Amino acid sequence: MLSEEQLESGAVTKRGIEIVRGDGSRIWDSNGKEYIDMGASYGVCNVGHCNPYVIEAVQKQLSELIYVSSSYDNPARRELMERLIEISPSGMARVFLCNSGTEAVETALKFTLKHTGRTKVVAAKRAFHGRTLGSLSMTFNPSHREGVSDKLFPVDFVTFGNAGELNDIVTEETAAVVLEPIQGEGGVHLPPEGYFKEARRICDEKGALLIVDEVQAGMCRTGKIFAIQHYEVTPDIICIGKSIAGGLPMGAAILHDKLGPMPKGSHGSTFGGNPLVCAAANGALRYMIDHDLSGRSETLGKRFLEGLRGIGSMQVREVRGMGLMIGVELKTRSGPYLSALLEKGIAAIPTGSTVIRFLPPLVVPGEEIDMTVKTFAEVLDG
Ligand SMILES: Cc1ncc(COP(=O)(O)O)c(C=O)c1O
Repeated sequence: MLSEEQLESGAVTKRGIEIVRGDGSRIWDSNGKEYIDMGASYGVCNVGHCNPYVIEAVQKQLSELIYVSSSYDNPARRELMERLIEISPSGMARVFLCNSGTEAVETALKFTLKHTGRTKVVAAKRAFHGRTLGSLSMTFNPSHREGVSDKLFPVDFVTFGNAGELNDIVTEETAAVVLEPIQGEGGVHLPPEGYFKEARRICDEKGALLIVDEVQAGMCRTGKIFAIQHYEVTPDIICIGKSIAGGLPMGAAILHDKLGPMPKGSHGSTFGGNPLVCAAANGALRYMIDHDLSGRSETLGKRFLEGLRGIGSMQVREVRGMGLMIGVELKTRSGPYLSALLEKGIAAIPTGSTVIRFLPPLVVPGEEIDMTVKTFAEVLDG
């Protein structure tokens, strides 16, 4: 029998275990070994694996209607869009539903270029916004751009967190400034206080749109539903994805009222907004609100950060994070430590070559956080 590694494209770095079951913050491999999913499978499973609200909503929808094009109204889709607008910063008014984070970013970019009639885009160094050609243009890491960098859209990259640099680069020709509220794939970097207020002011002054990519930091991960809410700034477009539908594929671009509707026929997605995934997202959002996952994330995030900072290992350069979005930058390569953690039943994830990322499901019990800190301290010592 051929292995998955032999069958798949070759693009994916495999971790060498086969996962067959999940429940809450836990996953199991085909040998029955249990792991704490400390990466929420790359930030997707915020409401936990096999969340009961998601299962119930999907099962009900499965027997009613799996798919209908978004040219027909559907109650699950309508409910979801209403919910998304309700939980967004005030002024956000319309939703474009798609199937992934990269599509949400593509949607925002395309609409912005059309809407403003401008051509220039500003993004941040270390940014990650996706891997399709438009979103990849705003993804900084040269290794992701290798072989196609000369085919990408021109983007001016500025230092994340440096408002002066942003002020100098944004002009009356800039269509948009695209930023993650906390950089995730770039190594979990928080902006300095006041940075996003400045970014908002600069965009307003020059007539550029502010697009905030909440694909990783959104949906209660950092202690608020959207991370941008920490900075008290209203963006023009919010991009979301990953955890919004409890593990099913969905992305969305949420548009500010001031932008008006997208021109009819200017964009579309066959599977975007399909009833099954909308039902899953309604279940996931209901769970997030009913169980105050933002509050959990804030409280448990403090406990986690305190625990990690308390380890005091010589191997650690810095511990960064907000809520349950945490990166530990090591002084050496993280690979061996990630493998040692996996061996001990902790499935953390990498970002870059030296940062270990902890993005647990927000339903993770506090004891599992303490256990992770203890195991990580052992691994760093070992
Ligand atoms: C901030 C951010 N934007 C966009 C994306 C792309 O999302 P997707 O992999 O669903 O296309 C990611 C994925 O990691 C991300 O972290």
